[in-house]
Amino acid sequence: MSKIIVLFNQAGGVAKSTTTQNLGYHLSLRQHRVLLVDIDPQSSLTSFMGLEPSDLETTIYDALLPKDEEEKPLPIHKNLHSMDLLPANIELANAEQELIFAELRELRLAQVLEPVRDKYDFILIDCPPSLGILSHISLVAATHVIVPIQCQFKALKGTDSLLKTLARIRKRLNPQLKIAGFLPTMYQTSNSLDNRTLESISEQLGEVATIFPPMPRATAVAEAAEFGRPLALCPNKHKPTLELFDQLAIAMEEL
Ligand SMILES: Nc1ncnc2c1ncn2[C@@H]1O[C@H](COP(=O)(O)OP(=O)(O)OP(=O)(O)O)[C@@H](O)[C@H]1O
Ligand SMILES: [Mg+2]
Repeated sequence: MSKIIVLFNQAGGVAKSTTTQNLGYHLSLRQHRVLLVDIDPQSSLTSFMGLEPSDLETTIYDALLPKDEEEKPLPIHKNLHSMDLLPANIELANAEQELIFAELRELRLAQVLEPVRDKYDFILIDCPPSLGILSHISLVAATHVIVPIQCQFKALKGTDSLLKTLARIRKRLNPQLKIAGFLPTMYQTSNSLDNRTLESISEQLGEVATIFPPMPRATAVAEAAEFGRPLALCPNKHKPTLELFDQLAIAMEEL
């Protein structure tokens, strides 16, 4: 059975989409079959994978809210940089409203993924920066959650409500959900503030779950996203970041 790992933090710009893409790629390098799921109407992951969201006629939106009862295959794009992708575009913004009235809405994503679960070793879900219904159904579908946290001044702000959300989901809807760990991101070794933040993350969250080694801040990472590829496939690589994603991939195998 595949591991379904959701990248979740209601804070924006903490490298959820970047981590989803690159962790997925490093898992594929280790011979795993990987499906990436974009459940963010901003559709950054879909762009990072080299697709133009506005060109897509069918996306995860059609799978979550089908127009009729007819069974249709999931609109999965196969073998993009050795991974498969269930993409999103802005149409998914409608789902927030429409799912409110949907039957068994909490289980919607779990039901969508069930038929393809056996085809993959890892399914990675990239959440929007909110605690809304799209994040909610992702956490219900997942076996594990990774929480990226930016190494900056306000890093830990909002962690309480994040942990409460996870506890609520575990209690009511998905008792098997485990926190795989917290991933400090955008870390600059030379920045003393980043170092203090990293210490606070370890002190405050170390008892809750594993704190993964920090992901460095590196221009090459942002460039790779613009290029529409994982960092490892770009001419300008950043070795410490590639090593971090390797380590993270190994940690996912050991979950
Ligand atoms: N390690 C890094 N070093 C430098 N820039 C990075 C790094 N990781 C991500 N970025 C850049 O920071 C921006 C935000 O990253 P990303 O889109 O992955 O965050 P996110 O948490 O998914 O954001 P959102 O909450 O909007 O979905 C992007 O432009 C990305 O290319
Ligand atoms: Mg994102």
